[in-house]
Formats: sequence, C-alpha cells, structure tokens
Amino acid sequence: MNLFNVYHLWDIELGRAEGCYLYDSKGEKYLDLYGGHAVISIGHSHPEFVRRIEQQLNRLAFFTNSVINREQEQYAAKLGELCGYADYSLFMCNSGAEANENALKLSSFRTGKKKVLAFCKAFHGRTAGAVAATDIPQYNAPFNCSDNVRFVPLNDMEAAKRELVTGEYCAVIIEGIQGVGGVQIPTDDFLQKLSALCRTENVMLILDEIQSGCGRSGKYFAHQYSGIRPDLITIAKGTGNGFPMASVLISPEFEPVKGSLGTTFGGAYLACAAGTAVVDVMVQENLIANASKTGRFIITELERIAAGNNLIKEIRGKGLMIGVEMNIPVADIRRKLLFEHKIFTGSSSTNIIRLLPPLCLTEQEAAHFVAVFDLLVKHN
Ligand SMILES: Cc1ncc(COP(=O)(O)O)c(C=O)c1O
Repeated sequence: MNLFNVYHLWDIELGRAEGCYLYDSKGEKYLDLYGGHAVISIGHSHPEFVRRIEQQLNRLAFFTNSVINREQEQYAAKLGELCGYADYSLFMCNSGAEANENALKLSSFRTGKKKVLAFCKAFHGRTAGAVAATDIPQYNAPFNCSDNVRFVPLNDMEAAKRELVTGEYCAVIIEGIQGVGGVQIPTDDFLQKLSALCRTENVMLILDEIQSGCGRSGKYFAHQYSGIRPDLITIAKGTGNGFPMASVLISPEFEPVKGSLGTTFGGAYLACAAGTAVVDVMVQENLIANASKTGRFIITELERIAAGNNLIKEIRGKGLMIGVEMNIPVADIRRKLLFEHKIFTGSSSTNIIRLLPPLCLTEQEAAHFVAVFDLLVKHN
C-alpha cells in the first residue's frame, strides 16, 4: 500500500532526537526550532518523560473511561495547579481539533444556540466543526462549509459586537496567538472587551491555546497576559510532548451531563503518564520562565537585525512563539537554514518564518540561529 500523498516532504529521514536536536539516518545533527508544529515542549526524548511512559506501559496501558482513573485525577490536579485553573474541570481527548469540537459542542449544549464567531486567518483544526471555524477556504470541503460560522477581523471589536448582539451566538472561538495565521496577536484590550461582551450576551468564550499554550508564550496560556478567564480553554500539542493528547478546560459554571461528551482513547493511562511527566518537568526545569527569557532574547536580536535590513517587515511573538514576516518569500531562506545550516524552522503563508522550538532552548542555541539568520538575510 502507498501512503496517501497529502504532505509536502523535505528529503530528510530522521532516526532519533534528544533535547533540541534531531539526527537524521546518516547521523547528521539538526537544531529544532519547529518542535514538530509546537508539540515538543520539554525536549525530545526527555529521560523523565520516557521513564514515566515506560513504567506506565509495563503496568497498564489502556482500558476504558468507565472505571475510576486516578492517573487522570492526578494529571488534572497537577495541570490545574500549574496553569492557574485549579477550579476548572478537565475533559481529555486526543487531538486539538477534537478538543475544539468538544468546546463548541459544550457551548451549544449550554446556550441552546448554534452560531459561532471566529476570526479572519483563524486555524482551529481539520474536523467538521473545527475546520468550519477555520478561515482557510481550501481546507473546507463543501460538507464543512457552514452558515453557522462568521469571521470578523482580529482585534476589530466593533465588528465582533455587531455579530454578538444579535443574540444568535453560542460561542466565540479565538486563538491565544494565531499560529497558522502568521503569529498574529490579539491585543489585551480586545480580549478584555470581548470577554466582557461574551458575559453580557451569554456567549461562551473559547480560547484555543493548542499552539500558544503550555508555556510557549512565556505564561502558561497566552491569554493570561490580558487577565481574562475564558469559559473554555482547549489544549493539545505541547501538553503531551509528542504523545498524542488534548483536553478541554471547563469553567465551574458548566454542569456535567452524563453521556454528553465521550471518547474511547482520550485520557488513557499512557496519555496521563505523558501529560503528568510534562507538567512535572516544566516545573522542575522552570521551562515557562526559560521560554520567556530565551524568546525575549531572540525577538530583541531579530529586531536589531530587522532595523538594518529592509527584507524584514516585522517581528511578532511572545516567548518561544515567534513570527518573522519578510517582504520576500521565505522558502529559499528556510531551505538554506535547513540544508546548509541544519536548522529546522516553520512557516505561515509564503512570507512568514515561524519559530516554535522546544521550551528548553538555551540562549546559546538561540544565538547560533540568530547569527546564521543574520548572515543569510545580509547576503540574500
Ligand atoms: C491553534 C490550533 N488549533 C487547533 C489545531 C489542531 O490541532 P490538531 O492538529 O491536534 O487537531 C492546531 C494545529 O496546528 C492549532 O495550531
């Protein structure tokens, strides 16, 4: 059987990884500034992560959500403490898109309404509801296009208000920082006003922190810079450091209704072991503070380079979620970074380089990237 050929592939075959480095099948070493789309949080193959999963695998890998699962309770308690939402409850599932589906469904169950407000350039996943709330027409099959979703420009409060006062909406869904859309940041003022309006209009505010969460922004959640408390928060990616897992954090105002949500694989013992290991390592190694510090270093250095180079349009980001918008397509620079300098990066659209490294990236590793990037843009 052949693989269904839907991905653009680099001609690289990986063999192993450790910390912030990947090694290909020939033993060549690469600096990872992409973390597999923001998934690698505590570092590749972290020994504590490996040990906990191995231990759990030997004890009990899987059964069902119909029995008491203390590992889930322990994960929820530790995560709640770390992220500042100990009073919320946790519903575990398997992927970011699935977390968003469940958050949309909870909002609709609670309000009895069905319209959703999303933002231009949003990406919320590939499943039916999540992709309907995604502002990328080519990802939507005719089946997914829904009259229930409206898009308004990010940070445009008047446009959001015009929709929400109609009384037809069950939810607003917004990324803590837009990732696929090009590291676009909602302002604190916008989030505060949006949150207040959602309260008065009885619309559920869903913060999609799937890419911007888990410490990446320099706080556990990017929205915590604004001080708001959303009704629902969705997480995935970094929470499992490569183990596929996701969750919805649900405000205490929601009453759980038996049977309303469910999953076969979500919250399995192995996922709990992975997630709890990630939380423990993040605390032990102070990785949120490291994301903040190393991110600030990169942004400051990139701004310095941008000041003397008109190929660079804008540097955006918080912590270790950084976008470099250029006035030219970035494909050639990214190819040189990868094949000549052995540095993996990501992109958003043709003109934006997106950096999403593991949160344990050191200043020395960051400085290496900055020096290489400086050279490349000088000689482009
Ligand atoms: C903000 C955001 N939401 C949702 C998703 C979908 O997550 P998944 O691919 O795990 O379904 C992604 C993935 O890139 C994302 O960046």
